[in-house]
Amino acid sequence: MTHDAIILGAGGAGLLAAATAGKAGARVLVVDHADEPGRKILISGGGRCNFTNMNVEPRCFLSDNPHFMKSALKRYTQWDFLSLVDRYRIAWHEKTLGQLFCDGSARQIVDMLLDECKRGSVEIRLSTSIGTIGHRDGLYHVGRASAPNLVIATGGPSIPKMGATGVAFEIAERFGLRLVTPRPALVPLTLGRDESLFKDISGVACPSIARVRDVSFAEATLFTHKGLSGPAILQVSSYWKPGETIALSLVDDAAEKLKAAKRRMPKAGLKAALSELLPNRLADALAARIGFEKKLGDAADAELERAAEHLSALTFRPSGTEGYAKAEVTAGGIDTADLSSKTMEAKAVPGLYAVGEAVDVTGWLGGYNFQWAWASGVAAGKAI
Ligand code: FDA
Repeated sequence: MTHDAIILGAGGAGLLAAATAGKAGARVLVVDHADEPGRKILISGGGRCNFTNMNVEPRCFLSDNPHFMKSALKRYTQWDFLSLVDRYRIAWHEKTLGQLFCDGSARQIVDMLLDECKRGSVEIRLSTSIGTIGHRDGLYHVGRASAPNLVIATGGPSIPKMGATGVAFEIAERFGLRLVTPRPALVPLTLGRDESLFKDISGVACPSIARVRDVSFAEATLFTHKGLSGPAILQVSSYWKPGETIALSLVDDAAEKLKAAKRRMPKAGLKAALSELLPNRLADALAARIGFEKKLGDAADAELERAAEHLSALTFRPSGTEGYAKAEVTAGGIDTADLSSKTMEAKAVPGLYAVGEAVDVTGWLGGYNFQWAWASGVAAGKAI
């Protein structure tokens, strides 16, 4: 045996797992096919890495088992990661909704993780393909390396052009672990031809509440030439299933606001009233969609209330998503039923671990996915 643990993937989860195990004395090898570690960290948060969130709670994560993530998140919290960031004197700020970003660059987070790995004498082999994994006599064999512990930390297939692959799922299945069907999440939604009206307002963004079933998010919606995007839509996309309708509330108390506009400017039409509440191009498109021809002063309050319903619950049935090419994360993945929630070790395969995005735990937008990568990585790193 050449090492105590081989970690597949030098992303956030793999590097922190490696550093944790290495600093505790394990001989750790990290293997990655990319030519640099932590590529997704480098591009995250617009280059500033939204590395965690102050409001981490289990309800901010999706999984077939909504309890699975609790143990790891409790044992390695956002405050633990923040104290690591502080120890490295990386300046940070809260942007909005508890989201913490570097003041400088995401590279500081990668450098910090690499420094932690160095302190744990972790060996990192880049530009190295995993090849066929052997499993004999209690040891896992990757290339010429062998170890009693193997950690799957290769993430999910979202953004393949960055080197993301579904190899985690192939390895898991090979060792008999089940999968929850993977799907793109935190992903823009596409609209069919019947919604062509909104193609004209591509690029317009506005505050909104987006809802699917009983889940809603109050953030911005962005209209795109393919459909809908922006944080509110990315958030609901993780919950959306094909065929379901999404409702957008674009104006609070819309009925009251239209009635007030009727009193103030009875000669104006709906378009003029809407342009006081929404970006002009969106107001034009919505007025056309609602098809309200009268002057406000000629409309009964009940008619204004009906028009207002479109503003507080504009409904769309997306035709699909923009897929893994544009998905910030992969939802689904290695079934948590086959893993220990304390150590991330496979229940039926001693020494095999899975961490990070490869596992069926997906966070909301806003630093939650990295917190899961850190927490699950530390859980496995401590157990090795
Ligand atoms: P990750 O994907 O980071 O690492 C996997 C590693 O495995 C990679 O280094 C890859 O090269 C390697 N690998 C894959 N296949 C391989 C193979 N076949 N052979 C060898 N190596 C292989 N989250 C958040 O909390 N805050 C944020 O600001 C953002 N921003 C963001 C922006 C963008 C554009 C994206 C795409 C994603 C985000 N995310 C995010 C999500 C976040 O990046 C993601 O959840 C974590 O990086 C997951 O960490 P992992 O270590 O599990 O996988």
